[in-house]
Amino acid sequence: MQKFEKFLLDNLPVSKSIHPHYEKALQEMLIAGGKRFRPALLLGVVRAYNTLMCDSARHAALAIELLHTYSLIHDDLPAMDNSPLRRGKPTLHVVYDEVTAILVGDALNTYAFEVLANTPFCDATRVKLIRELASNGGLNGMVLGQAIDCYFENSPLDIVDVKILHTNKTAKLIAASLKMGAIIVGREDLEDVLYNFGIKLGLLFQIQDDILDLTQSSQEAGKLTHNDGDKNSFVTLIGLEETMKEANTLADELTLELNDFDENLKNELSSLLRKYINRHRN
Ligand code: IPE
Ligand code: IPE
Ligand code: MG
Ligand code: MG
Ligand code: MG
Repeated sequence: MQKFEKFLLDNLPVSKSIHPHYEKALQEMLIAGGKRFRPALLLGVVRAYNTLMCDSARHAALAIELLHTYSLIHDDLPAMDNSPLRRGKPTLHVVYDEVTAILVGDALNTYAFEVLANTPFCDATRVKLIRELASNGGLNGMVLGQAIDCYFENSPLDIVDVKILHTNKTAKLIAASLKMGAIIVGREDLEDVLYNFGIKLGLLFQIQDDILDLTQSSQEAGKLTHNDGDKNSFVTLIGLEETMKEANTLADELTLELNDFDENLKNELSSLLRKYINRHRN
């Protein structure tokens, strides 16, 4: 997604200041790559119903990627997962220092909402988008999930609580990405359907991520792997084999649900999702 990277840079206007590396640090993780899964979900929904809105929708997709990238920068901090590698690059706290990584995360988080506030939609749509990203990425969403994840390191939860943890830390932002697409194209009737599908997709995404932590090298993943032994995950609780079965079940259910979507949505999402739904099987 070379073009999306240029779009990211073009939309990150950092004022000139006396700080020697603030601007470079802000850009670094954003342009390091990443799958851009959440923007692709939002844009897939928009493309299904109104291709003319794709250019405007890219700003909302950018906002999600900004918030997601902030979450990764903070996730890697020594106080959280303490990881030296992200998106194939050394993490910001390693290249610079912890202060820089914390503040870059803060800046990307708040800037995400500035971008949403400036999206070229009517006021009602903008408010809905802001609410959606805030409620899923913030205190009762991703941040809550991260808090539970870190607090319960080394103390095993039951599988029901692990699902709640995964839903918060990962699934809600993925679900919000799909729902925000529906909000943009004015398909209120699809908001809940897409959100619920996204929660299941996000749960699978995190389970796969935990599988890949065990099965991929750091080089393959572009981030530190074999690092989650103390974490609550399906893999640590029920082992790799059972986790693969759970992932297969979720993947099969999602494939059926995807086939129930209308032709437009199915066509737009299926090539993207086929790859993700099955990525633990590759
Ligand atoms: C990593 O997300 C964090 C999780 C929620 C598992 P991604 O796997 O989407 O990371 P990037 O954006 O591709 O780097
Ligand atoms: C983090 O989950 C999810 C976030 C909200 C960032 P992980 O800690 O498993 O993500 P990775 O494996 O470091 O990308
Ligand atoms: Mg983590
Ligand atoms: Mg991590
Ligand atoms: Mg992980």
